[in-house]
Amino acid sequence: MEINLMEKIVSLCKRRGFIFPSSQIYGGINGFWDFGPLGVLLKNNIKELWWREMVLKNDNIYGLDSTIIHNPKVWQASGHTTFFTDPLRECKKCHQRFRADKLTKTQCPECNGELTAVKQFNLMFATHVGPTQDSANSAYLRPETCQGIFINFRSVVDTFHPKMPFGIAQIGKGFRNEITTGNFIFRDREFEMMELEYFVRPGEDENEFENWKEKRLNWHLKLGIKKEKLRFCEHPKESLAHYSKRTVDIEYHYPFGWSELEGIANRTDFDLKNHAKHSKQNLFYKDDEGKEFYPFVIEPSVGVERLTLAILADAYYEDSQRICLRLKPILAPYKIAVFPLLANKPELKTKAREIYETLKKNFSVIWDDIGNIGKRYRRQDEIGTPWCVTYDFESIENNTVTVRDRDSMKQVRIEIGKLVDYFSKEIYE
Ligand code: GAP
Repeated sequence: MEINLMEKIVSLCKRRGFIFPSSQIYGGINGFWDFGPLGVLLKNNIKELWWREMVLKNDNIYGLDSTIIHNPKVWQASGHTTFFTDPLRECKKCHQRFRADKLTKTQCPECNGELTAVKQFNLMFATHVGPTQDSANSAYLRPETCQGIFINFRSVVDTFHPKMPFGIAQIGKGFRNEITTGNFIFRDREFEMMELEYFVRPGEDENEFENWKEKRLNWHLKLGIKKEKLRFCEHPKESLAHYSKRTVDIEYHYPFGWSELEGIANRTDFDLKNHAKHSKQNLFYKDDEGKEFYPFVIEPSVGVERLTLAILADAYYEDSQRICLRLKPILAPYKIAVFPLLANKPELKTKAREIYETLKKNFSVIWDDIGNIGKRYRRQDEIGTPWCVTYDFESIENNTVTVRDRDSMKQVRIEIGKLVDYFSKEIYE
């Protein structure tokens, strides 16, 4: 296990403002993480790329932003109040709680105490809506975003009249009261999910499932994740979620081993059928021939934090001279850093600042004039900035700047007027 790598990533994330433990000044809170100034830039880039790939590029996929709290009947219909559980055992001596399916011994792993029998623990966070705290007002924070999609199925169909197949996509927070958290941001109690529910004709589900498997793997490769660190993993029948006919995970080789990055599930017509039954509403899809049916659903679902961790682990590079995040430019928090060669020379600083302001209109750019150039390069390498632009004495002579590449460390001179074009090509082509 590359424990060392994990520690290095955690430390870099904290040191450079990517990710902080939530509520840190009060000792933190297990399973919750805050994204700092650089983390939020990276995370927003990831979400934007997903949205572009799933919604903007496809005429037949619609976006949605539903609420986090639904009518609690939603979770009865979806089966979550009954089935969304993990097996739990508690130590009778130290009262620590463990996921029974992850235990490797029959005694408490912490104090060797005797463990209770297995009981099922529901992972949904309960809350109350309104000022009265009784069971009539209890509700849940959503553990998955897709139920918001199923309960809006009728509204989307009635307003947009989509033809089969079509999809509804959503990005949003999910909450799970995980028995054990860990591995940094891998398993959290609050996290973000990016989910697509793709509605297909029954009978076309198996083909579509294969299509989405390939599309989703290719998307991760396009983000720059190394091919040898990704693989498919088929869920055995006996461990399928209560709604699934088939699930295949895309696993990433995290520093702690292979683990789920994204799940692709064939949810059949389970959700629509159950919501129709519980809500007594018509959730059929009616095709052009007047045939009514419940569509089957293929669902690719990926956690933003898990993907962020995979991207960070994959991009982390170090040698004897430097630490570097080799992020694809499109993902990097800042695309370009702009420096004057010397901070105390106004003729360099003023011009460098002008370049900075121009580039800022087009890209996410950072200014740095602290310390020597070598130190500035190292700082930018560590946060994954692909290019550093330096305005130096030669710039005054011929209107060019040096552009230094993060990965090769090579420098080229480019005319100031051509910088926007140059970077646009490098980032978007
Ligand atoms: N709607 C389908 C669904 O919820 P899931 O496999 O339970 O399926 C989907 O979750 C994705 O959400 C996972 O592949 C993972 O990326 C992410 N995820 C699940 N639980 C998580 C947790 N506790 N912390 C962070 N990410 C999580």
